[in-house]
This record gives sequence, C-alpha cells and structure tokens, in this order.
Amino acid sequence: MIYFDNSATTKPYKEVLDSFVTVSSEFFGNPSSLHSMGGQAEKLLSQAREQIAQLIKVKPAELYFTSGGTESNNLAIKGAALLNRNKGRHLITSSVEHASVQAAMEQLERDGFEITYLPVDEKGRVSAGAVEKAIKKETSLISIMQVNNEVGTVQPIKEIGQMLKKYPTILFHVDTVQAIGKVPLSLSENRVDFCSLSAHKFHGLKGTGALFIRGGTRIQPLFSGGNQERMVRSGTENVAGAVAMAKALRMTLAKSEREMERMKKIQSILRTGLNGIEGVQIHTPIDNAAPHIINFSIKGIKSEVFIHALEQKGIFVSTTSACSSKKKSPSRTLLAMGVPEALAESAIRISLSFDNTEDEAMTAIKAFEDTANQLGRVMK
Ligand SMILES: Cc1ncc(COP(=O)(O)O)c(C=O)c1O
Repeated sequence: MIYFDNSATTKPYKEVLDSFVTVSSEFFGNPSSLHSMGGQAEKLLSQAREQIAQLIKVKPAELYFTSGGTESNNLAIKGAALLNRNKGRHLITSSVEHASVQAAMEQLERDGFEITYLPVDEKGRVSAGAVEKAIKKETSLISIMQVNNEVGTVQPIKEIGQMLKKYPTILFHVDTVQAIGKVPLSLSENRVDFCSLSAHKFHGLKGTGALFIRGGTRIQPLFSGGNQERMVRSGTENVAGAVAMAKALRMTLAKSEREMERMKKIQSILRTGLNGIEGVQIHTPIDNAAPHIINFSIKGIKSEVFIHALEQKGIFVSTTSACSSKKKSPSRTLLAMGVPEALAESAIRISLSFDNTEDEAMTAIKAFEDTANQLGRVMK
C-alpha cells in the first residue's frame, strides 16, 4: 500500500496512540475536578500546553486547545469579527482558503459584514500589495493561509505581516494547518495574532488542535458553557488528545529536521516522473511551494476515475481537499489560479509524509503512467 493522501490526514504514530491510551485509562479525571485525579489531569494538560508552546516558540498562555483546524479557524475569525464589530465590519481573505475559512467568512457576510476575497495569480499566490490595497478604515481582520491544502502554494505571510506593522489595529489570522513541520513560520518574529493548528495533519489524532492567540488579543468565545481554556473555549478538555498532540508535534518536528531533504527529493522525483507522462499538467508551482504536495491533471481523464483505478493498484491519492472531494464541482483553488474547468476536473493531489520513500514515488509514477495509458485508451 502506498499512502499519498497525507494532506487529508496522516497515520497517527504508535507512540501517539500509546500516550492517548495511557492518559485516557490512567489519568481520566476531569481537569476541573477539585480532587487529586482532577489535579493530575490538569497538570498533564498544562504540560502538553507548555510542550507545544515551546515547540512553536510561543507562550503557553497564548495557546488554546480546540477540536482541530476547522474550529480554530472559526474561533479566530468569528470570535475576532464579532468582538470588534462596532469598530469595523470589513474582513479580507483570499479566494483559495480552506472551506472552514471561506464558509466562516460567508456566514459573517450574511450577517452584515463586508468581505474582500482577494484573487490569486496563476501560482495560487496573493500579494502583500493586493492585501494592503484592499485595506479600508473599517478593516478589522485579515485571514490568509500559510500553505494551500490543494496545490501546496506558500503565501507571503512574512511580507503581509511586515506590511501590517503599519496597521496595528488590524488583526492577522494565519491557517498553518498544512504548514506545520513542512514550512517554518516564526510567530514571535512575524506580526501574526492568530494561528490555527490541527493535530491529525501531523500524525496526531483527529478532533484535536489548537489556536494561538497573541497575548493581549481578545476574541468573543463561540461556545457558552463551563469557561474552560481561560474562558475562550468552553467544553471539558480532551486531555489525552492534547498530550497525544504534543507528542505528535515533537516527533514530527524532529523528523522534519532529519527528513526534509529526503521529502524534497521525493517531490522532485514525482515532478520529473509526472512531466514525462503524456497529457500531464502540473499545477503546483516550483517556487513558493510546500515540499509535501504536488497537484496535477491528466488531460481527458476525470479525477474520480483515475483515483479509483489507482486504488486497485494499492495507491491512495486524492482529488482536491478531503472535504470537497466528494462534491462533483472542480477545485475552487484551481479555478482561481485560472486553470480551465475541464482540466480542473482531472486534478489529482499527491501529499507526502516523512514516512514515504523514493521507491514508493518511483512505483507510483509507473502506476500513474500505466493507468493513464489504460484509461486514455478506453476514453478514445
Ligand atoms: C488548510 C486547512 N485548514 C483547515 C483544515 C481543517 O482542519 P480539521 O480537519 O482539523 O478540521 C484543513 C483540513 O483539511 C486544511 O487543510
């Protein structure tokens, strides 16, 4: 089996599962309970927060556990927009964000906010200049992802953050869900106010994640309840999930240091191999792209048909993003990049983890070529 769908989700590391089981079975107290079992759970939660904070170089007090990327994105965007609605009701984002940002923006739009959806160039990039041009007196928040989940384009977060130093009242949210362990970003050096993380994208567990909120920045909570997570996110904390997330992050960042060059080599083998297959067009740019994603189309072969044919050979890839791959419409990101609709309907995304190998890449290329030839003949 060759698993090349790591942007949809990754396989949890065994050590991550072990720590989840240990905490769930031996330290299952509620961190809010006053007795010693509650105290133990609270201590584990604090340790997980400290470890993650240290790994991403922020303060523990700036980190809030959530149920993942979708919740973190909603919490940052709606929480900031709603708290600041009397100061300004204009928000800026790009036209290639993950559905959890796009749909949160659309909901705010229906509730009377004005949203600017910035276009991207043919590589899927927004420019810091375009972001600045879109700023109005009423702009309260800008949300731009670090790495696009469909094509892997890296956005100019540093430049946007630099430019935003001139606009201290505007908050800046960055969805780093696809970037963790692949494309570094210093939150302390860059002017980022919110940053979303999702553990299942780096070998942690689904339903666990975090939101970084820069110290001193406030938001309106979205859940009413027991005021956990320092009143920002009510709901009994998933202590075992948080401990597992800390472990997954530590292991991923260690692998990233050791294996990054190998991952880049695998991506390059895939790019060269794909370029040699008739009818292939690669959408992932060469520059400003993450090392783990490569998106391409094979002219005339629909994505679903190709994916199922590959699955028969034990190779798992994806159409676009996992949450939109069951919808029949072509990728919003590719259309925004100017890819013609017919070609976008043939898009395939390969996404790697540090556990993939060069041999797998070479086997996959051979299978892509054979499958394209077989299906191409059938379609003629
Ligand atoms: C860029 C990006 N943001 C947010 C999410 C949502 O994360 P989660 O699955 O943890 O809700 C994803 C998941 O695919 C993603 O790729």
